[in-house]
Amino acid sequence: MPDYRRRATREAMSVRLDVNGMMADTVGHAGVTREEVDGLGARTSEIARALKARRGAGELPFLDLPYQKDALARTKTVANALREESETLVVLGIGGSALGTRTLIEALETTRRVVVADNVDPMSFGTLLDGLELARTTFNVISKSGETAETMAQFLIVRDLLLRQLGAVDYAKRVVITTDADQGALRQVVHDEGFRDLAVPADVGGRFSVLTAVGLLPAAFAGVRVDDLLAGAAWMDTRCQEPDPWRNPAHLLATLLYLADARHRRNVVVLMPYSDRLHCYAAWFGQLWAESLGKAETLDGKPAHVGQTPLSAVGATDQHSLLQLFTGGPADKVIIMLRVEDHGREVPVPAAYADLDSIGYLGGVGLGRLLNLEQRATELALVKQQRPVLTINVPQVNAFTLGQLICLFEVAVVFAAGLYRVNPLDQPGVEDSKRLTYGQMGRKGFDAERAQVEAWLARKRNDYTL
Ligand code: PA5
Repeated sequence: MPDYRRRATREAMSVRLDVNGMMADTVGHAGVTREEVDGLGARTSEIARALKARRGAGELPFLDLPYQKDALARTKTVANALREESETLVVLGIGGSALGTRTLIEALETTRRVVVADNVDPMSFGTLLDGLELARTTFNVISKSGETAETMAQFLIVRDLLLRQLGAVDYAKRVVITTDADQGALRQVVHDEGFRDLAVPADVGGRFSVLTAVGLLPAAFAGVRVDDLLAGAAWMDTRCQEPDPWRNPAHLLATLLYLADARHRRNVVVLMPYSDRLHCYAAWFGQLWAESLGKAETLDGKPAHVGQTPLSAVGATDQHSLLQLFTGGPADKVIIMLRVEDHGREVPVPAAYADLDSIGYLGGVGLGRLLNLEQRATELALVKQQRPVLTINVPQVNAFTLGQLICLFEVAVVFAAGLYRVNPLDQPGVEDSKRLTYGQMGRKGFDAERAQVEAWLARKRNDYTL
């Protein structure tokens, strides 16, 4: 097993940014100039100073998660106990309480089954429940607020099912709750019914919570090397302390994406991993970038309406679907490619049809090599059309590199929020939709929201409904 305490091991397994395709000397007017980056120097230094001060004051606690000790030990203890008791862990959660876990489980090698149920689609949820052996399944209910309608509805269904099938004594053993340490209805439920529980630290919001028990418990249950994950995040955190933006991966990434948007009208950012295992990472990134930067107001209350729209694509599949739009459509996108050097296995293509030039050339090339050659080809196809492209080189997909990738974009997004002058930690639009749902469901205290929905329905014109 690699020893990430050794600097040489960390360097060899470092995720590296290649920003050539973002620069004006490569993609002309679409690209960013060195002068533009350096011209922001006073502002980027100020943002770096402010973030350091806020971190020191404990206002950005998610940045310190790579160094946690007690919470990690407790999470591992619970995970080990669950591995003794269960074959399957079903996560009930949504948004930031699900996407990080899905990312870890999809990307990394696992030895136990984890299923993330992050929707209330009756067909998929009902079918999932039908197929479970309840006596060998644990349900991990994850909600920071402890009141999100989708997750609580799932919990009520599962609790009732367990009570009926396992009885009033045994049902509680099949549930672990991850929620705020002190607040919320779910915390109350833990107190009242004695479920096993883990805490989401105060001031760590959903989309920044993957390195808390939210993501670490399911990952540890699955057999993921969570210490490597945190070591990777810590290594990226160290690299992101560098004052020179040209040597600081997160600060340079944020600055280039901000300039591409604000100065070069690239308001769509596509994350395109060349690895099926990182597809869900692109969805996690999408939530992080969208919810943190998509804001109506600046920090001082002025109209903002900023934020890049994140899209996900996967190489090579989407070369045959979305790439035409990326190369020939509106000049509004930055493409971020994730290139994986070593895919962990190679599948050789046997030599055959040597007489048929259009097939024979494939013989002797492995699929991993083909995938990486396609990434290089697509990078150039984009650059030739003056479409900015940033490539992140990932030596292998493992817990250490995934930890780096998580930390990279978490730091980048708070830095980008500084450039846009918005608060990356709130999500008023999400909260409004939650309240309007509570209103329709008749929840106490949400009459005003119920009235808003009724007024909206009354305003709908029949002649606009076909
Ligand atoms: O990032 C966020 O804050 C949201 O996506 C939340 O994670 C999501 O709404 C679920 O909230 P909760 O964990 O409170 O159930």
